[in-house]
Amino acid sequence: MALSRRTFSALAGSTALGLALGGSNCSRASSAYAARSAPTGPAPSPPGVDGQRHTVGYDRYSLLVDGKRLVVWSGEMHPFRLPSPSLWRDVLQKMRAHGYNAVSIYVAWNYHSPAPGTYDFTGVRDLDLFLRMAAETGLYVILRPGPYINAEVDGGGFPGWLTVTKGSARTADPTYLSYADEWLTQVNRIARRHLFTHGTGTILLYQIENEYDSHVDEATGRTYMSHLYRKVRADGIDVPLFHNDKGRNGYWIPGSFDTGGDSGGWLYGFDGYPSPAHTPPDWGHFGAGGATGGATASPGTPGFVPEFGGGWFDPWGGAWFSGKGYAESRRTRDAAYERRFYLTNLANGITLHNVYMTFGGTSWGWLPAPVVYTSYDYGAAIDEARNVGEKIQPMHQLGHLLQRVPDFAKLDRAADVKAEGLRVYHLTNPDTGAHVYVARNDGTGPVTAALPTDAGDLRITVPAKDARLLTTGLALGRRKLKWSTAQPMLCLTAGRQDIAVFTGRRGDMVQLVLDCPAEPNVTRLDPEAAWVYDRGELHVSVPLGQGGLTRVLVRRGGSDTPLLLLFADDATSARLFPYDTPSGTLLVYGPALLRHAELRGSKAHLTGDVIGETAVEVWGPRGIRRVAWNGRALPTRVTASDSLMTTAMLPGVAEVRLPELGGWRMRTENPEAGPGFDDSRWKRADKSSSYSTTPVPAGQPVLFADDYGFHYGDVWYRGTFDDTRGVEEVSLAYSSGTQGLLMAWLDGEPLGTHRLPVPDVDTTIRKGTWAQTAVFPVRGALRSPGRHVLSVLVRRMQHDEDGKALDTHKAARGLTAVTFKGASPKVRWRIQGACAPDPVRGPLNNGGLYGERQGWHLPGFHDHGWEPVVFPRTERRQGVTWYRTRFRLSVPRDIDASVGLTLQDDPYRAYRAQIFLNGWNLGQYINNVGPQHTFVLPNGILRTRGTNTLALAVLSEFTTLSGPGSVRLTLLGSTSGGVPVKPV
Ligand code: GAL
Repeated sequence: MALSRRTFSALAGSTALGLALGGSNCSRASSAYAARSAPTGPAPSPPGVDGQRHTVGYDRYSLLVDGKRLVVWSGEMHPFRLPSPSLWRDVLQKMRAHGYNAVSIYVAWNYHSPAPGTYDFTGVRDLDLFLRMAAETGLYVILRPGPYINAEVDGGGFPGWLTVTKGSARTADPTYLSYADEWLTQVNRIARRHLFTHGTGTILLYQIENEYDSHVDEATGRTYMSHLYRKVRADGIDVPLFHNDKGRNGYWIPGSFDTGGDSGGWLYGFDGYPSPAHTPPDWGHFGAGGATGGATASPGTPGFVPEFGGGWFDPWGGAWFSGKGYAESRRTRDAAYERRFYLTNLANGITLHNVYMTFGGTSWGWLPAPVVYTSYDYGAAIDEARNVGEKIQPMHQLGHLLQRVPDFAKLDRAADVKAEGLRVYHLTNPDTGAHVYVARNDGTGPVTAALPTDAGDLRITVPAKDARLLTTGLALGRRKLKWSTAQPMLCLTAGRQDIAVFTGRRGDMVQLVLDCPAEPNVTRLDPEAAWVYDRGELHVSVPLGQGGLTRVLVRRGGSDTPLLLLFADDATSARLFPYDTPSGTLLVYGPALLRHAELRGSKAHLTGDVIGETAVEVWGPRGIRRVAWNGRALPTRVTASDSLMTTAMLPGVAEVRLPELGGWRMRTENPEAGPGFDDSRWKRADKSSSYSTTPVPAGQPVLFADDYGFHYGDVWYRGTFDDTRGVEEVSLAYSSGTQGLLMAWLDGEPLGTHRLPVPDVDTTIRKGTWAQTAVFPVRGALRSPGRHVLSVLVRRMQHDEDGKALDTHKAARGLTAVTFKGASPKVRWRIQGACAPDPVRGPLNNGGLYGERQGWHLPGFHDHGWEPVVFPRTERRQGVTWYRTRFRLSVPRDIDASVGLTLQDDPYRAYRAQIFLNGWNLGQYINNVGPQHTFVLPNGILRTRGTNTLALAVLSEFTTLSGPGSVRLTLLGSTSGGVPVKPV
């Protein structure tokens, strides 16, 4: 396809000079531009749908959006991990408010496609809606539709049906390519309508494939990548494309495959998930990575990490995996981790940065890959229950800095600087002359040292395993910073004054020196600040964290533009929200979240969230005299710093009470185990060949569930045989993915349960097959002549990911072979899994339990005839038992409460529960494995003002007593505010 050169102008020289000079933010006081490429200037305004054509170019420093430098500070979230579209907006608004300018999303093929040729982008799968919301929120989108995504989802995102197709996935195999194209056509049909280049949306960048490190040097791989590239271009996607290299290998740099003559628009990106124990890696342009290490592999494109760890996923619990829960990921990759690693990235010339995950969410239904459990919280800055935690603080500070202080978009490495006990990076902006220092402490104790800067020695303390960012020579509106031991967070012009915010750790005594050739008029608006003027320099010192914000106003009198200096410790800084409106920029201080701001006449209309009682302070354009918060007018006064401050506090969020769960009813199932069960409508399992990577045993039919169209959740088998002479034992080989399970019955009598992993599973796991064999003696049971039925339930976990492009997603799931000792009866097999996919909840919602096939999980099902029970409960039984109850919530409309379901019991009891809320499969609890005990119930699926139906499908193993024990609702967070939530 013809690609417009205009779109991909990798702008060089002084192309953008004119644009850069026209801006209105603080940087306009910058010194002369001496640019080798596009100079430093104000960043582009937040994106939206404006109907204008835009260009997305780049040079080695950064992206150039309409010729203006843009540092991409992005967070990853997965719409498919939050099955309530209203809440997408909540997460997006939280990201935007806390300094992100982009959201990166995978689009999971399996989530949208229950069968070849069938694609669904409605309801919780509405990609178009997500892209609209991102544009409305003012966030760029980095779109990553695979076809392969990995992401700890079933099959790495490959649909179940792809496991039974010919050809090797992730290669140039024509069958695979035809399916991959089918998927990309569907995604691109939607994506095309939301391209930033067209002014119809905010898609800024687009990734093909993910971590493709197989076949790199072979024609197979190059042909494959070339095919995907051309396909995406042919579909009309004209933003820059890129790939996410698994680590810093230098794979898929520009020129490494044929783009069909299309010369622009390919970026090199690589990911990194360093352990907190590692020294942060120098992987960017300035790094010691060598010719192929990280960004140095692609000297002509900007440093780009499409994924950098913001937490880590957690495996199942139990002896072998020892998942510790997400509190641990959050503890080990904390705010200091973020400062230490992400500042190192910036210091290495990375100007496109995406944090994986920023909101992890929930791998609900049968979405999780075998390695993970339901929660995909990831220890991210925004937790699974949508609470904004402490980890947001460095993200907020850095994100706003990178968007509002343009000096950071173009940094060269400057002369090495040494400070005792610290690793120091020194950079400078060639256009503005600002210097940037990152001082990192990799040791286990705090380090205080003299940092020799171009503005003199600064005495700084860096806590253990932490880092600090310092600048000298930075323009602060019409004035200039000489140096500061605090980190700049933003600089903006609100109405008549420039405002600069500086941050640090609570308890820091920070210093700041302003160049002031003439003695200024300084007002200390908060008592803890001290200042002194000495020979052309204003010295300010502030102890941070003495009760919120510290304000110092610097004026010269007359018509001079004042500079307001604001000092904030980390927690305070995250309650300071800059917001650009068409009539000027606002800075709002106080609430937990500012979602949206609009100026109408003399009134600022603000919406957002409050948790604890707070005042609200607003700096804004001239003429703004009144403030409304969530639709209600607030009484305010004008302060000495020219802000509007509420005269009464906004109350904190009211207490939310959740009901006790009771009124449970139960019913046992698994009639399939009984000899008389009618299976005549089940599929015959009689195929003789399969595309699976698991060999079909000689002389046996294919028993793999996928081959019969059952791709997710539980499968039942019934094998009928007549000739029982000599049969002593039956061996059931099955393959299930970790934590899989098999239960067998002979003529309705339990033979036993077998479960993964078992102690010797180690080697099998490494082979990635997750296969085990359950052996049951049957001799005594088969004395009677005539027909016998072997019934087997396989709790199949999910398909393996295909990280190495070895078709590992095609490993069989379900029974793989059945053999008998003593004889070889001829068995006629039938198989049953999930019914037709749920048209609303999608293909991954259900497996093939009897109750699921009968709709016992659905809210409309009548359970009046079921037996009433109370929890805790104990029973000893092999099989499936369902429990249902209803509960009513009446959370006030203006409170956003996040609710979870918590299950607890004696960890010795071997049972598990599939949790259905209003018919939605919200996860799997395994009592004797863990570590997850609390399951998030997303609002929209959860009726916070209405009646809900909860159903638990419990599989108990007979080896121990089984529960459920205690089952209760837990309040995971609440704010006064939130977004309007539509029922899903
Ligand atoms: C990356 C991969 C992601 C995800 C992540 C770990 O290597 O690209 O899809 O699997 O690791 O959470």
